[in-house]
Amino acid sequence: MNPTVRVAVIGFGVMGRHHANVYAALPGVDLVAIVDPDTARRLDASERHGCAAYPDVETLLASEHVDAASIASPTSTHFALGTQCLQADVHVLIEKPVATQVHEARALAALSRERGVVMQVGHITRFYKAVQQLRQSVRRPYLIEARRLTPSARIRDVGVILDLMIHDIDIVLGLVDSPVAEVSVAGHALNGSAFEDVAAAQITFANGCIARFLASRIAPDAERSLVVAEATRTYRLDFAREPHTEMAIYQARPTGDEGNHVHVDRHVIYEDNPLRKELAHFLARIRLSATPIGTLDDDLRSLTLATDLIQRLRPHAEPLLVAHAD
Ligand SMILES: NC(=O)c1ccc[n+]([C@@H]2O[C@H](COP(=O)([O-])OP(=O)(O)OC[C@H]3O[C@@H](n4cnc5c(N)ncnc54)[C@H](O)[C@@H]3O)[C@@H](O)[C@H]2O)c1
Repeated sequence: MNPTVRVAVIGFGVMGRHHANVYAALPGVDLVAIVDPDTARRLDASERHGCAAYPDVETLLASEHVDAASIASPTSTHFALGTQCLQADVHVLIEKPVATQVHEARALAALSRERGVVMQVGHITRFYKAVQQLRQSVRRPYLIEARRLTPSARIRDVGVILDLMIHDIDIVLGLVDSPVAEVSVAGHALNGSAFEDVAAAQITFANGCIARFLASRIAPDAERSLVVAEATRTYRLDFAREPHTEMAIYQARPTGDEGNHVHVDRHVIYEDNPLRKELAHFLARIRLSATPIGTLDDDLRSLTLATDLIQRLRPHAEPLLVAHAD
């Protein structure tokens, strides 16, 4: 029998609520506390989960014994809060992106190794069945197009590259086995935003594969799609049909003298709560019964490429004013 894992959730906002709900329903877990500086959120958390609620991590660590924590606070706080937890030998699941700077991510990874505790980054798309199937099937893509658009500019402490595009960067780096050769990016910060709200990037890999990314948090509609083309097949994924992912596989079939005929296989993949799988995997790693799905080096590669895009964007980003409907 595995001992019960005592868990805290740090940050009880949109993502932290999901983490708390999943932990509360998982066997072998005791959701001991929530941390949030917002008094109303602390009250809400203790009413919903009957657990303790603290305004900061110092008070949590001084008041409770916790084995593990999910850090679902704003990205700009991840480094400081992750460091505090790791120094207290608490296993951490840090929401994506792990930090805003590569050197911070490296320091967190080094600290987790030094303390011998698990650090996992919340790259949830690694737990999508459709993404796992793609990783098993795709051999040598030559063109990838990823679009991730939303009408919600809720997150204000980082731009859309760290907020949204990093999901697709992480998927693409998991599909293309070649170093990045060329990078170009453009974007806009709108209505006085300190960070880019729209970004378009093109990455060319040393093996010739081209990956194009579009991310926006001021789009009229939500869209999350991915197209992966290789010599024999093209995969088209639609992630915006939750809890399903729709996958169409296009394959050219020779039909004799008349040329090619395109055969399409359509699949509707039930995703079955990827966050539950991600957190169950984190707990399994703490119990030493699983090896990482994606390593800290993979997390660093994704963050390195994302921050490289941001660096290239900065000098060109001219703030624009765009009229909102509201
Ligand atoms: N994996 C995903 O698909 C996904 C989706 C959304 C957000 N995220 C990530 O989750 C994180 C949180 O995003 P969100 O959308 O839940 O934001 P949010 O603004 O809804 O929630 C953040 C919460 O953290 C609290 N907070 C602020 N400072 C804190 C501190 N020092 N200690 C503890 N709590 C603090 C806030 O009061 C708030 O309740 C971000 O890093 C974001 O990138 C991941």
